[in-house]
Amino acid sequence: MTVATSRIDSTPQWARLREHHRAVARVHLRTLFADDHDRAERMTAEAAGLVLDYSKNRATAETIALLCDLARRAGVAERARAMFAGERINVTEDRPVLHVALRAPEGERIVVDGRNVVDDVHAELRKMTQLSDVVRDGRWEGHTGEAVRNVVNVGIGGSDLGPAMAHEALRPYSHPDVTVRFVSNVDAAALWEATHDLDPARTLFVVSSKTFTTPETLTNARSARQWVVGALGDDAVARHFVAVSTNERAVAEFGIDPVNAFATWDWVGGRYSWGSPIGLALMISIGPARFRAMLDGARAMDEHFRDAPLERNLPALLGMLGLWYTNFFGAETHAVLPYSQYLSKLTSHLQQLDMESNGKSVGLDGEPVGVATGPIVWGQPGTNGQHAYHQLLHQGTRLVPCDFLGFCRPSRALAGHHDLLMANFFAQTAALAFGKTAAEVVAEGVAPEQVPHRTFPGNRPTNTLLADELTPRTLGAIVALYEHKVFVQGALWNVNSFDQWGVELGKVLASDIEPALAGAEPSYDASTNALIRRYHTARG
Ligand code: F6P
Repeated sequence: MTVATSRIDSTPQWARLREHHRAVARVHLRTLFADDHDRAERMTAEAAGLVLDYSKNRATAETIALLCDLARRAGVAERARAMFAGERINVTEDRPVLHVALRAPEGERIVVDGRNVVDDVHAELRKMTQLSDVVRDGRWEGHTGEAVRNVVNVGIGGSDLGPAMAHEALRPYSHPDVTVRFVSNVDAAALWEATHDLDPARTLFVVSSKTFTTPETLTNARSARQWVVGALGDDAVARHFVAVSTNERAVAEFGIDPVNAFATWDWVGGRYSWGSPIGLALMISIGPARFRAMLDGARAMDEHFRDAPLERNLPALLGMLGLWYTNFFGAETHAVLPYSQYLSKLTSHLQQLDMESNGKSVGLDGEPVGVATGPIVWGQPGTNGQHAYHQLLHQGTRLVPCDFLGFCRPSRALAGHHDLLMANFFAQTAALAFGKTAAEVVAEGVAPEQVPHRTFPGNRPTNTLLADELTPRTLGAIVALYEHKVFVQGALWNVNSFDQWGVELGKVLASDIEPALAGAEPSYDASTNALIRRYHTARG
């Protein structure tokens, strides 16, 4: 793959967008809809069971055409082809980027270093299936011979967020007799809360760490081992711990039976690894068939992303529109607002996916990117957010593009609930787009001094994603949609979306500071020294 060297903002396509922006920025969504009756129909695209209505964006057919020109100039499609083919597009780590191989059907060939990685993926899926079935059926016996009924995943970042998010999203599909929990934070409260009411004899830990060197995960795993050993003795470790890692030696040193070690691969980034064995605890929870349905949903979105023209390509549309707001309207953040309680952890997962991928300021050529890159991603499930931060979305001074996600059928049914939830879902995007004019407020008989306070400017852009129901397949499609959206933006900005050097400095400093917390005189900057001394004093 060739590395683009010219800055995207110095291309003629960018200049045309800048000029076009001057005209479009003045037009209200009310006008765009009034002038174009087919707009909603035309600006709706569908794939993998997801409907995307992007008509409530401050964009015209010309905007989309110009953004597609920019994407062609940036070589988005060529870069996607390189990813699917297994080229080493993660150039700073010299690795292919093949989360799409995790969803590839048996029989497909993607060769890395002479190996067909799709065969490796399916071998590991079969091994995961075996273990999941044994645990789910109550046939996995702990050290005392009792059946394991609790599973605790110990991992952090991508070795936690994706599987934990999916476990939460798919709770209605989880095994009724198996408790699955996730521990990530090294704050002892996390492990304590996850284990204090469990019986060690009936608990299995899945230590998920691609590198098996992450201090938080290893610290939690060691404390979990002590908890098991304290109750059941040294020999219990083999029956109560399994691991997922690329680091077989460290797994064995931890005392985990190699038979119970699952592989993951260098060519899957942590934040893209939920469909790999890193999702083992999730598979135990929802069962192998549903896990595969989730992968099938992701695969359907992968194929759509790979094959559909940019103009009808959901990830490309989301990516290009995101750039439109970030770089031309100066939007700093992007809200993702799922109208589903079960998607309460989606935004946390998307934060890592997007911000760890595109939170970069240097391009593939090593030069400053020169334009704003990945936005701050945030949001919570609706309708809760409406009673918290939607005030700012409707009447604040900032432009916050939002994605609204909703489902036609409920995950849990109680009379009246779902229609009320979805009425709010539909109302919010309409209110944000069209607002309420001062004339409309006056016509309601509002006192003149109140009118400015009760006027809604509208013209606030949203995407609406609608699916029939939150199923494993739909969830897979949603996650893959955002993965490819992030890919498109990374390609447009010419950054490497697949490394994360930015997390290293803090890690190194923490490992340096940790010994000083045991009492040694700190020798850092004046502020850090003073804070550590205060910590020493408080700890006596
Ligand atoms: O935070 C940095 C990071 O490397 C993430 O990218 C990764 O998902 C996480 O740490 C956990 O890493 P590991 O799976 O190796 O423990």
